Amino acid sequence: MTRRTDIDVRTVTEAEFPDWNRALNTGFLQPPAVAAEQLEARRRQFVPGRLLGAFDGDRCVATFRSFDQEITAVGGTLLQADAISNVTVTATHRRRGLLTRMMARDLAAAKDRGDVVATLIAAEYPIYGRYGFGPATTMTEWTVDVPRARLDPRWAAPEDGGRIDLVDGEDVRKLGPELHERLRRAQPGAVSRTDLWWQARTGAVNLSALPWTEPCYALYRSADGQVEGLASYRADDHWGDAKQPLNTATVDWLLAVTPDAERALWRYLCSIDWVQTVKSGWRAPDDLLPHLLPDPRAARITTQADWLWVRILDVVRALESRAYEGRGTLVLEVVDRGGPAGGRWRLEAGPDGASCAPTTESAHLVLDVGELATLWLGDESAVRLAALGRVREERAGAARVADALLRTSRRPWCPDMF
Ligand SMILES: CC(C)(COP(=O)(O)OP(=O)(O)OC[C@H]1O[C@@H](n2cnc3c(N)ncnc32)[C@H](O)[C@@H]1OP(=O)(O)O)[C@@H](O)C(=O)NCCC(=O)NCCS
Repeated sequence: MTRRTDIDVRTVTEAEFPDWNRALNTGFLQPPAVAAEQLEARRRQFVPGRLLGAFDGDRCVATFRSFDQEITAVGGTLLQADAISNVTVTATHRRRGLLTRMMARDLAAAKDRGDVVATLIAAEYPIYGRYGFGPATTMTEWTVDVPRARLDPRWAAPEDGGRIDLVDGEDVRKLGPELHERLRRAQPGAVSRTDLWWQARTGAVNLSALPWTEPCYALYRSADGQVEGLASYRADDHWGDAKQPLNTATVDWLLAVTPDAERALWRYLCSIDWVQTVKSGWRAPDDLLPHLLPDPRAARITTQADWLWVRILDVVRALESRAYEGRGTLVLEVVDRGGPAGGRWRLEAGPDGASCAPTTESAHLVLDVGELATLWLGDESAVRLAALGRVREERAGAARVADALLRTSRRPWCPDMF
């Protein structure tokens, strides 16, 4: 076995990019060969200095990519984030500390750049807590049993005077980005999207090793002609022995900036002839969907899991830049073994703003940096984390104070996988 120190962790050059992609495909259990078209598309994600690889001799055995992203804090402030993706270690070289080395290097660079947080979507729950990440948003997928929902079978168009049209990929590339901008600026936990995201989701480029198939795109316009919602979905072709249609429509993604748009798009998706089942795709846990149905039990939760993981790099900016509806003071003792967020911080917050600074006052609440990330976007309760032993109250009632300050009326959500 090659000794740990013989494996070089370094930034990847353009010349090494094909080999790095082969390792990436292998790590994600895809066919290792990278088609020329795929490589060309992925080159657009190549940012010098932001791709890391581990090399055993001249063979790439681990991959790691980060890129600039904006994340929306509670209240709508956009913060600079270090988004992490394409993390793999080839099975022959696992559990020798390669991920740990790449992560340490990337997080140190992110802190130096002034990024407030790092973000990622974790393939498996146990991987990233050790690096100071905590789950900060949740996703829910519903499976709707359409006949059970008791919707009016004669439905033909949105009741609010709006309309739904099927559009093509070019329309989506034209209209989607602005719609998404509106959504993500108002949605805590949402992140910025690149042009490449839209191109890849509409078949203009193919980043994946799998062949592209075109979905259907449904566009919602309000009564006064405003574009307020857009959904991409695919349907299968499944009939029962009694010659009855049993088709499933699966939503790839759905964006709605008004409740009317959300209502109209779900209503449309649950009214397509032959479709007996609608799979919602990865939604916010408090999506309106189940309660838009006369019988909400027709929407069964089929997946509910952690989604966006956040690593706080700058406690002061993270806490000062979010909004607070309540008013209060909290002294937080953040444990971050050698990391940049450790220390005792005094947060004074209210509807008119917040200040956060290091302090020597006694702590009210002691918590790991990962738990701070979990509380930061307001998705989780400090009282619940205290019951789990994941935060410790040093002052009676401090967890309730934290909840009154940090929790939000609607839950955070990240619509993106990256
Ligand atoms: C996850 C992955 C990148 C880990 O790489 P690695 O180089 O083996 O990780 P390290 O050796 O640096 O591990 C550091 C620690 O994390 C633990 N760890 C790593 N991956 C883990 C996993 N999937 N589950 C549980 N623990 C894990 C290691 O056991 C080790 O623990 P220790 O410090 O107590 O010994 C690698 O297993 C992999 O490529 N998996 C498949 C693709 C994948 O899931 N990528 C992540 C996409 S988000």
